[in-house]
Amino acid sequence: MFFERPDSGEIAVVVHIDFNDQSESYGPEEFVELAMSAGADPVAVVTGSRQRPDAKYFVGSGKLDEIKDIVDQEEAQVVLFDHALSPSQERNLESVLKCRVLDRTGLILDIFAQRARTHEGKLQVELAQLQHMSTRLIRGWTHLERQKGGIGMRGPGETQLETDRRLLRVRIKSIQKRLEKVGTQRDQSRRSRARSAVPTVSLVGYTNAGKSTLFNRITGSEVYAADQLFATLDPTLRRLDIEQIGSVVLADTVGFIRQLPHRLIKAFQATLKESAEADLLLHVVDAADISRDDNMLHVGTVLEEIGADEVPTLLVFNKIDALPTAEPRIDRDEHGNPRRVWLSARDGDGLELLKQAIAELLAVDVFTETLNLPSHYGRLRAMLFEHGAVRSERFDENGHFVLDVKLPKKDYLQILARAGMSEDQIVAA
Ligand code: GTP
Repeated sequence: MFFERPDSGEIAVVVHIDFNDQSESYGPEEFVELAMSAGADPVAVVTGSRQRPDAKYFVGSGKLDEIKDIVDQEEAQVVLFDHALSPSQERNLESVLKCRVLDRTGLILDIFAQRARTHEGKLQVELAQLQHMSTRLIRGWTHLERQKGGIGMRGPGETQLETDRRLLRVRIKSIQKRLEKVGTQRDQSRRSRARSAVPTVSLVGYTNAGKSTLFNRITGSEVYAADQLFATLDPTLRRLDIEQIGSVVLADTVGFIRQLPHRLIKAFQATLKESAEADLLLHVVDAADISRDDNMLHVGTVLEEIGADEVPTLLVFNKIDALPTAEPRIDRDEHGNPRRVWLSARDGDGLELLKQAIAELLAVDVFTETLNLPSHYGRLRAMLFEHGAVRSERFDENGHFVLDVKLPKKDYLQILARAGMSEDQIVAA
């Protein structure tokens, strides 16, 4: 498969091999898109199938010759493997192909590095990159250069390697420290949001589903959205006002992707934690994508992995403008609760329906009541105030506190438990 050569970017050859024992088989299209997203120009895709990877070169010798011919002919600068390569396979391939070789993790990291916007995102990417690099720092990078004579070079080479290793370790440590600090700040702000009883709604979804576009549309903000994969690397928080229930915090998060190496998920856990602690997830789906169902399953797996599978989830089927016959609508489950909203973030069709569905789902859990508390319930009253749940207060003729409260039901029950009281001791005004 050959493509027309675009004007700029690194000339890349993409390699995608099918393995017979692979349960999930997928084509090279997504990886080609990822490569373009990283700024490379994939000029050719080499495909093939094998029983299992070759230990030394990942591919067989015939395939390697084929790749080498294309690299030479196209003057490619990089060969991108849609697979996980071991450090030694990567090195062996580079020696034969005489150009840079990057595996799937390396490419995704590169994209992450280009897209990270906040301080924390940048630190997370750098850490993941350094860790990825440190496993590859075995005999230095000299294998890429033409032989400059072996004897005599070895000593300084080794010394350089030692230095590199030490520098890497120091840098990794310092980034880890800084990340810890940023993480603490993030936890604090999350706690203060929890205290103020503002529900958090988190956008999750497969990369390119349209999360940032929806986020911008619905909050009316100008958060960066690009026609590229992974436009979003950090959760971006905005306040969203919904008439029926008041303010909620809307969090945009990083897009998920198939075969995201486990180590990367770990690296972005702090960012993804935001989703696990949300009151509601909006799972944004590109309804017009042919891999829609697979992508949804995959997002489900990642949510499980980050412990967010228990959070109530509303499906948002986006891009209905790209479907032949879809109207904005809410699909409901057998209890009448919103299950799926169909909309177009680009055109803004169906946004009101989305707000309505969010309101319905969050309202289920919101406790709104006017309470009549005798004066010796002062501790409970203080706790409700501290939680930010009291909308207004007055006294009745018996000197009781009459409080208008609004807070998540689960918080209300927790507060009662902490005050050593039960629900039936409380009287509504
Ligand atoms: P990541 O940051 O990679 O996770 O992507 P994302 O889910 O935030 O997607 P983003 O909002 O960047 O949108 C991806 C692409 O889909 C962009 O080209 C958008 O213009 C396009 N897009 C978003 N919403 C719609 C829509 O409703 N209809 C159509 N046709 N395109 C849309």
